Amino acid sequence: MPATVVVGSQWGDEGKGRVVDLLAADADLVVRYQGGNNAGHTVWVGDQKFAVHLIPIGILREKLSLLGAGMVIDLDVLLEEEAELSSRGVQVAGNIRISENAHLILPYHKLIEAAEEDRRGKDAIGTTRRGIGPAYEDKAARRGIRMGDLRDLDTLAAKLDTVVKYKNLLLKNVYKSRPVDPDRIYNDLRVLWDHFGPAVCDTSLIVQEALEAGRNILFEGAHGTMLDIDWGTYPYVTSSNPLSGEVCAGAGVGPKAIDRVVGAAKAYTTRVGAGPFPTELEESVAERMREPGGEFGSTTGRARRIGWFDAMVVRKSVRLNGIDSLAMTHLDVLGEFDEIPVCVGYRRGGEEVSDFPNQLEVLAQCEPVYETMPGWKSDISQVKRFADLPENARAYVKRIGELVGASVSDVLVGRQRDQSIFV
Ligand code: IMP
Repeated sequence: MPATVVVGSQWGDEGKGRVVDLLAADADLVVRYQGGNNAGHTVWVGDQKFAVHLIPIGILREKLSLLGAGMVIDLDVLLEEEAELSSRGVQVAGNIRISENAHLILPYHKLIEAAEEDRRGKDAIGTTRRGIGPAYEDKAARRGIRMGDLRDLDTLAAKLDTVVKYKNLLLKNVYKSRPVDPDRIYNDLRVLWDHFGPAVCDTSLIVQEALEAGRNILFEGAHGTMLDIDWGTYPYVTSSNPLSGEVCAGAGVGPKAIDRVVGAAKAYTTRVGAGPFPTELEESVAERMREPGGEFGSTTGRARRIGWFDAMVVRKSVRLNGIDSLAMTHLDVLGEFDEIPVCVGYRRGGEEVSDFPNQLEVLAQCEPVYETMPGWKSDISQVKRFADLPENARAYVKRIGELVGASVSDVLVGRQRDQSIFV
């Protein structure tokens, strides 16, 4: 392994949870480095579905799981997640550590986000309304409350007092909404600290120790490259950097520590929330993939928008993340199509476009150019070896590797752990 990053190469929901779970079998340590409970990583173990939003999915393999400094954490959600996993026999207590530098999502973040999304009306981002954006805003504005701030209750009370005064001014005067009660937030946090305090530390030191001991580390990305705040389809993005480069800041390691980057890519494309989507399909075609692919957001349950594979998107992700190989998920879902179009490039005003545009105005003028691949018209969900896939399915996988500039190392053909093929 030894230090591997798994990133989403599209708009999130590529099946990173499945890919991380696969690789976590050989990992000693699993680390999330950004985002919050806007993410949703789903893994099936037999007939049991596990969906986690904050705790790294590596916890299912009972590996030491770190919540890194680049994350924003809603402790109520973490508590629920821990209770849910524990009640189902997953050993969480003792297996998680939380960065003292990670920022907290507090009640006012969620209220402000909901009010702001409502205010934007038809221009809403379509966020998950989990308070992610406002928590990162506070971090950047240097008024955030961090995990480590809960250690000293007097300092916490003073910090909360200052920030809540400001938030209540906004809530009351701008959004005409109800204010929050600082005492209640303080008391809730005290109780949460009693529970989580022993797990809070400088998690970068654990990563460093593991690196020095030559252990296998898996960095678990959340969301996807096209949702990256710097490189995604801004402003229809999340408020953090899902890119592999964020491992350094979000987990606290130098870039030379990273050995390998695996990009998770669906065999087609999906996105939830608003924003551009060049290969989006009309509902009559999309609905043929929605049920078989389980294309409903794992965090909000919203029906995902669905489109053909877009090589422009994934090629850009390969470049931005330094992806060494791709784990292609959901290939089985395409089994019923006679023909499968793949977007190989864009044209704008009759000219070929060389790279996925950064400006939405330019992207809006781009027309996808498709190459049509023959389908394989069969159920491949029980295939275990690449050589046993139908020829057309193998050709599809190989063609996508060529188009995006990274070979496909794994193909996932179903939700169960054994439904994966090493290429
Ligand atoms: P936020 O991250 O809640 O602020 O939402 C911003 C945008 O990112 C919205 O379009 C969300 O639907 C999308 N988003 C955030 N996290 C994920 C994810 O894990 N998968 C897919 N979309 C996501």
